[in-house]
Parts: sequence; structure tokens; C-alpha cells
Amino acid sequence: NKRVKVKDLLASEPTGQEVTVMGWVRTFRNNQFIALNDGSTNNNLQIVVELGMLDENTLKRITTGASLKVTGKAVPSLGKGQKMDINATSLEILGDSDAEKFPLQPKKHSLEFLREIAHLRFRTNTFGSVFRVRHALAFAVHKFFNEKGFVYMHTPIVTASDAEGAGEMFRVTTLPFDNPPRNEDGTINFKEDFFGRSTNLTVSGQLEGELAATAFSEIYTFGPTFRAENSNTARHLAEFWMIEPEMAFCDIEDNQNLAEEFIKYLIRHVMEHNREDLEFLSQRLAEEEKQLPQDKRSEMGLIEKLEFVINNDFERITYTEAIDILLQSPAYKKKKFQYEVKWGIDMQSEHERYLVEKHFKKPVIVTGYPKEIKAFYMRQNDDGKTVAAMDILAPGIGEIVGGSQREERLDKLTERMKEMHIPAEELWWYLDTRRYGTVPHAGFGLGFERMVLFVTGMTNIRDVIAFPRTPKNAEF
Ligand code: 4AD
Ligand code: MG
Repeated sequence: NKRVKVKDLLASEPTGQEVTVMGWVRTFRNNQFIALNDGSTNNNLQIVVELGMLDENTLKRITTGASLKVTGKAVPSLGKGQKMDINATSLEILGDSDAEKFPLQPKKHSLEFLREIAHLRFRTNTFGSVFRVRHALAFAVHKFFNEKGFVYMHTPIVTASDAEGAGEMFRVTTLPFDNPPRNEDGTINFKEDFFGRSTNLTVSGQLEGELAATAFSEIYTFGPTFRAENSNTARHLAEFWMIEPEMAFCDIEDNQNLAEEFIKYLIRHVMEHNREDLEFLSQRLAEEEKQLPQDKRSEMGLIEKLEFVINNDFERITYTEAIDILLQSPAYKKKKFQYEVKWGIDMQSEHERYLVEKHFKKPVIVTGYPKEIKAFYMRQNDDGKTVAAMDILAPGIGEIVGGSQREERLDKLTERMKEMHIPAEELWWYLDTRRYGTVPHAGFGLGFERMVLFVTGMTNIRDVIAFPRTPKNAEF
């Protein structure tokens, strides 16, 4: 008998047909009703065990967490709230689960508690929905770019370059832990390493992406990236996934258009394909927000918010305008900001969130940042002060996208690198793109987990990646 998935079964009509299902027990009531879940949907399948069908010992072994194979007849349910029951004709316990020890009880657990048992939390409704939505978003990323003819590039994880020039890298070495070879001055001698030099985990695939874009015209990357920043916030991970499109023959305006279209496409895909999960997450969020004081609650429900985002243009402003808005804000006048506001600052998340949540109440694209706070590769504007950078800020998140038009003029680029102490000899291969057939080009990076946060309404980034790597979590 072939196994049928619960989701497919629940979508069909119960006409007494015989089916086989497999899954994990969520609850078992009155020695008769099993709620079975196989991860295809949050809707459990109700299995009805006829009295006397199973012996005492087997009944005892049907506990929360145990895995079962059940064959039975699909019939319309007599109970309320569900469409069908499976009247079991045979039931096999595939794996026992000690009810005393199994950490997931059939009750609501806090997200903090579930983070401690990340290896089991997929077996809850919240994480079932979050990870099905995450899957759908990843699929939609490829669908979007494939439809546009972009080439998917796999960029290296281990590299010697620091794409962002921010020095936030994890070192990769094969040298022995306790007694690495040393230079005369006591520093580690990386020449004896497998790679023959100091290497690190990538912080971004952009530089390699630019190499490919200046051949294929349009490419994207989608892979893990690593940042050794010691940020213990609800929006930072040491290991996160990033999508980085890079387009030749493209300026900062085209770049903004693509990013806005992309974000809306991803949301639309999930609205079309994961309605049930979104409804569940929307309800979850509403319940969570009931605990908050009125003024901290969202004005819109999750689905309403997503609909609003896909149906309205993102606001587009310059950095200079953003600073002016902040300086004129009631929040600034009442000294509500913790960090300083003036032209030249790297906006803090409190500033970004003021702009999107209080002022514009929609996603905002900010362009024209001061060159001092941005990476070396961004194209310099004619004013000599700003670069063609763009960040997209999203309600509840802050920065979700960072991108720019790239400096395609070799002289300007090398000059800027010198000012920023970025060794040109190490990036000779990157500079070759500007030596041989350079073109205006642009790209951006979308933080995948921040996008999942936005779409699911979850509030902590540790809850949208299966095994978060943060300063405290690296066990499994
Ligand atoms: O702004 P970032 O650092 O830009 C880049 O890496 C560029 N190379 C992108 C490009 O132009 N191709 O990072 C891009 C996005 C951020 O907007 C944010 O969404 C996400 O990556 N991000 C993080 N997400 C989770 N944890 C972290 N520590 C993150 N750092 C950046
Ligand atoms: Mg950024």
C-alpha cells in the first residue's frame, strides 16, 4: 500500500477508500482518537481506533512523538472541525517515544524553550509553517531569476578576499589548533596551511558575482555567508543565506526596480502557495501581540500587511532626505533616539525603523549614502561625498537589502581602494573586470532570513533558520 501525504489526503473527498498514512502522534485521546502529523500541513489527520482493535500494550505505546503506520478507510468525520477520519484497520508502531522524556508536550511551548530544542522544534505547528514558507521562498527565488534569464552562480565559501572590507571574517585553516607554525615575530605562518595563505569564510559572493555578470550579463548567487560580528540581536546571524543578483548594463535606478519587483514576487508566491501556513502564522502573531501594550501592536495583520506591500510602491528617498526627516521628527525632538542623528551617521536600526514604521509606514528605498560608511566598490556620485548605494528598509525589520551601482571606472576604483587601505594586488582579478570591457553594473544582496522574518511575521531571526549560528549556538 502506497503512503499518501496528509495534505493530499485532506484535499480529497472521503469516500471510504482505503489509504495508508505515516506520521508522528501529536495527541491520543480516550484511547481512541489519534491526531497524526506528517509535516505536510499543520492540519492533523484524525485516526479513529475502534475499541478492542488493539491490545493494552500497543495502546500504551501510542504516545506523543511516536511514529506510526496506519492503514484504514477514509470516511467523513463525525467530529466537528475536521473533514475526515481514518477508521484504522491496521496500526503499526514504527518508533516508540517515551512520554516521560519527550520534550514536546501537547501544549503551547515558548519560542525560547523551543530554541533550546531546535533539533525537535520542526515538530510543532509554528515551525512547520515557518519552514514550509522558507522552502517556498527559496523556490520562488530560483523561479524569479530563471524566468528572467539570470544564471545561477555558485561562489566559493572559502576565500582569501574580504568582499565587504569590514574585517568580519571567520578564519579557515588546516593548521593544528594547539601548536600552529609561527613566523619569527610569533604570528601564525599561514604559508604552511593547505591553502598556502590566510583564508576565511565568505562574507559575500558579490565580487565573484561581478566577474560572472561581466560575461553572462545577468547572474545571481544564493548561498550561505558568514559574518564574525558579535551582534547578539534578533536580526543578526553569524551564518545567514544571501541572494545576490548582479547585472551588467544596469544603473542604480534599474537596481531599485529589480529589488522591488523581486521582493513583491516572493511575497506573491507565498500568498498563492502557502495560504494555510500564512493564516496560521497570522493568527499566531495576533495572539503574541495581545500580550503587548496597544501602541506596540501592529496596525495590520500579517496577511493584510503583505497585501499592502505588494499593492503599493516602495517609497524612494535619498539618505540626505532621510536624515532631514529624522531631524524633524517628534521622536528626535523628544530625544527618543538612543543614537546621534546627523548627516554622515550610519543609521541605526531605531532610525531605520522610525522611517518605515512611523513615518512612511511602508518599505523605503534609501539611496545616496555618504561614501565613508559604505564599501569600496560602490560608484562615486558627482558630488564627491556620496555613493550610488541603496538600502531597502522594511517595517519590523529595518535593512533587508543592501546594494549599489558599482564603480566601473578603474582609476576611481583604485583611488578609493588606496584611501580605504584595500590592497589592490590582492584584488587584481577583480580589477581585471574594469580593465577588460568594463561596463556600468549594479547588484544587491537580500538577506534571506530577514525576508523569511518579514513574510512569516516571526520576530527573532533564530526562529527562521533551522540551526542558528549566533555567538551562543553552534552545537548542532
Ligand atoms: O548590506 P550587506 O552587508 O551587503 C553585501 O553583502 C553586499 N555584498 C550585497 C551586494 O550588493 N551584492 O548585506 C546584504 C543583506 C543585508 O541587507 C541584510 O539583509 C543581510 O544581508 N545581512 C544579514 N542577515 C543576517 N545576519 C547578518 N549578520 C547579516 N548581515 C547582513
Ligand atoms: Mg548593508
